[in-house]
Amino acid sequence: MTKYVIRGGNPLHGEVDISGAKNAAVAILPAALLVDGVCRIENVPEISDVTMILGILRDLGAKVTMINRTTVELDCSRVYKQNVPYELARQIRASYYLIGALLGRFGRAEVPPPGGCDLGVRPIDQHLKGFAAMGTRIQVENGFIHAAAPNGRPHGAQVYLDVVSVGATMNILLAAALADGLTIIENAAKEPHIVDLANFLNSMGADVMGAGTDVIKVRGVSRLRGGTYSIIPDQIEAGTYMTAVAAAGGEVRINNIIPKHLDCITAKLVEMGVDIEEEGDALIVRRGPGRLSPTNVKTMPYPGFPTDMQPQIAAVLCLAQGTSILNEGVWDNRYRYADEFRRMGANIQVNGKIAVIEGVDSLTGAPVCACDLRAGAAMIVAGLAAQGTTEIDQIYHIERGYENIVAKLSKLGADIREITIPEEEWRSNGVG
Ligand code: EPZ
Repeated sequence: MTKYVIRGGNPLHGEVDISGAKNAAVAILPAALLVDGVCRIENVPEISDVTMILGILRDLGAKVTMINRTTVELDCSRVYKQNVPYELARQIRASYYLIGALLGRFGRAEVPPPGGCDLGVRPIDQHLKGFAAMGTRIQVENGFIHAAAPNGRPHGAQVYLDVVSVGATMNILLAAALADGLTIIENAAKEPHIVDLANFLNSMGADVMGAGTDVIKVRGVSRLRGGTYSIIPDQIEAGTYMTAVAAAGGEVRINNIIPKHLDCITAKLVEMGVDIEEEGDALIVRRGPGRLSPTNVKTMPYPGFPTDMQPQIAAVLCLAQGTSILNEGVWDNRYRYADEFRRMGANIQVNGKIAVIEGVDSLTGAPVCACDLRAGAAMIVAGLAAQGTTEIDQIYHIERGYENIVAKLSKLGADIREITIPEEEWRSNGVG
């Protein structure tokens, strides 16, 4: 059993380099299945979700070669399987991208429903509706989604998404790249990782237009060729370090980012009194003495405030001077962390999709749990600012999406360690 132990109260100083975007990588790596040739993908984050996707690709028969820590070469020419094993797919949400990618490559796919963070109901009906419009027969049998295009290749179609869905937009894009004819995705999501997937596909010879707007047009091509592509920086990792400085104080230069992607987060932190300066592909984030102002945050699809930053900004709001209101506009159940914050002395009340936070003078360290990936990141943000020691368990959630977080924060002056408790010890303490 491993935990993070944080002794809070140290302001953060120095520079941090942001890694490649998790939610782009987990779609772009499966997209290599569509490519007839070798793809070299750079700026791949070293996180467990990526390890799992690469494991699935290997299982399918792909040749996966790590060129260095963040560059991978994928050769999917010998892939023959069209079915993803249950135990691999269940561990990760993004396994649903294997449906679009296999369907695009072979005209058929067998993939179990995905796993991932527990954020309430997480249907994939919009993905399946898109595949069905493209002529694919969809059946759910024995715990697997079976998708098959009768003519061995999906055809182009007009798909209107009933909800703005990142996953459905990307999955339909994957299925459409080699489809027969024109696919139009209306009410598409506009997140930076959608543009990144479209750019990856276009750099390999696809014909995708309009990514980053709410109408995406994909004209199917007969072949994608190999090439080299570099994944964009992670908007949410950068945002998490911004909130860490906002909570703990100090001055940090956040390198290797696209400032435009962070506008939605920057605007809120500036409103609260954090000083943020843009310098090329970096942001300098400063937080002086004195309490921050409260604010209201509603999460929305991009370019709105990202739901994946909601728990981290909540940690900062717990310390603001006054009352803040959070309105979760994407997921049904993204406040499971509230009980953990209360253990640290926060005053947070949740009613459905609304949370009301009454800021307190200070938080105190406590044993807490990372109940999902971003909630875990929020526990770190709170622990850095708290007085005393915070112990965070279930850190495997955090490791799914944050590369080297302990080393990166330590370099900024944080007192954070990963400790391993021997199995006999935690069993004898009645844990587990
Ligand atoms: C992606 O999830 C991200 N995951 C999530 O990040 C992120 O929270 C979410 O997008 C929103 O930005 C990955 O990219 C792997 P959606 P996804 O489809 O694609 C409803 C993280 O912390 N919906 O955009 O699963 C759904 O219930 C993770 O990195 C349907 O109703 O999210 C939700 O309310 C957590 N039917 C809303 O749409 C569908 O078919 C948005 O979901 C699909 C979605």
